[in-house]
Amino acid sequence: MKPQRENWSTKLGVVLAVAGSAVGLGNFLRFPAKVTLNGGGAFMIPYFVALLLLGIPLMWTEWALGRFGGAHGHGTAPGILHKVTRRPYASFFGIFALVGPFLILTYYTYIESWTLAYAWFAFSGQLLEDATQDGMKKFLAVYQGITSGESPGLSSAYIFFVITFIINMTIVHRGIQGGIEKFNKIAMPLLVLLATFLMIRVLSLGTPDPSQPELSINNALGFIWNADLNALSSAKVWLEAAGQVFFTLGVGIGVILTYASYTKKDDDVVLSGLVASSTNEFCEVILGGSIVIPAAFVFFGAAGAVAIAEGGLFNMSFVSMPLIFAKLPFGSFFCGLWFLLLFVAAVTSVVSLLQPGIAFLCDELKLSRGKAVSIIGLILFICCQPLIFFIGRGVIDEIDFWGGTFFLVIFALIEVVAFMWVFGGERAWNEINRGAYIKLPRVFYVILKYVTPVYILILLVSWSWQQLGPVLRMEGVPEENKIYLWGVRVFVVALLVVACALIARMNRRMPPLGEDYET
Ligand code: PFF
Repeated sequence: MKPQRENWSTKLGVVLAVAGSAVGLGNFLRFPAKVTLNGGGAFMIPYFVALLLLGIPLMWTEWALGRFGGAHGHGTAPGILHKVTRRPYASFFGIFALVGPFLILTYYTYIESWTLAYAWFAFSGQLLEDATQDGMKKFLAVYQGITSGESPGLSSAYIFFVITFIINMTIVHRGIQGGIEKFNKIAMPLLVLLATFLMIRVLSLGTPDPSQPELSINNALGFIWNADLNALSSAKVWLEAAGQVFFTLGVGIGVILTYASYTKKDDDVVLSGLVASSTNEFCEVILGGSIVIPAAFVFFGAAGAVAIAEGGLFNMSFVSMPLIFAKLPFGSFFCGLWFLLLFVAAVTSVVSLLQPGIAFLCDELKLSRGKAVSIIGLILFICCQPLIFFIGRGVIDEIDFWGGTFFLVIFALIEVVAFMWVFGGERAWNEINRGAYIKLPRVFYVILKYVTPVYILILLVSWSWQQLGPVLRMEGVPEENKIYLWGVRVFVVALLVVACALIARMNRRMPPLGEDYET
């Protein structure tokens, strides 16, 4: 008899959880920066093309594969690939979907803790005491332990990190229904409410400085949304747009596989996947696109907004946004809401990233949830330490390159090929459409089978050609930081080796092919 796996208590619960995984810092920080830096409205053309041909098809692939795996007692890529391909060695291709989420977690958790800390500092009024560009930069540098000063330093950062860590672990420890589902049912409406409130506040700014009438909200929206069509001829813009779609939907990393594995055998996946994706797009394009950049534009002008986006994601949210709020009545309050929004968005993503590791230990190595959560928590806690103490050495970018970019694209290709080609196109099509509230138009069969894999392949080749070399050679990295980046690479390889060993162990425990293989 198969051991009883957990499941979601309602359909709304799983849709909100997948949407919660998708809506995160990527929507409110990464997206506006990418739009601004890549031709404004023109960026949206490759963005929507990638959403239609990559993001949503991959979303359906993961939902269907996850539901299929769950029905066979497997909630993570190694077990699912073993089942769908009926080839034991195929499970090793699942390493990217075990190691990837873990790598993202190491930095995402730490940044998540900054948002909680900054919400606290904002509500308490400390943050906006010296609301100048230099003052805010110094506040962040002192907080990160890069320089010393009077404001809260690394010890505060560490305390907030521990609090955040405990919150995340408590949610996943309570399980799918009692933890993740319950939390998302409160967090998602709260998040939309907070973001809508902030968007309305920003859109009602009008022309804050009457002596500069050109710096108005109208012009700000034009600045973002008017298309610079020249940008369309740049391969980089297409790559960036596809990268954003992968990251924001959280596809290609195995997280949705795991969430979907807790659905029931005949639950709908088509409409659910579509609703989760649409919720993410609403939060990204409408809400995410209408807070940071228009606010930066009306206070700092077009050149200033671009400079802010070029200064990096951290600058944008942790330096510029407080400065903007400081110019408004009740600034500390709005600033606190901004960081609270980021925190809620980050928690719902972090718990989704934790679940594949936990599911692997429970499903494949038969550990109890409590044990699995403790093991993953302990290893993650240890792995976050170097990041906290070597933050200024470029380690976050290096981990993000492997875990948050490269592995996503590789695993997306693996899963779509395994499903549409090895499992078989028609079988996969039936699997997706089983129990569906709306039947997928047949054109998506062609997209899933041919367009999506070829699109990913082209991305992979052109992207490796443009970016892999310089990254591997560490071009532009200061000499003294290289050793730290090598440390990250050794760490990534070590994780891959450990994942391989665990998968080999899983394979030894799998029933022989032929038994238990009904589809
Ligand atoms: N989609 C999240 C964001 O936009 O911030 C990040 C993320 C979550 C990436 C889950 C990958 C993932 F599996």
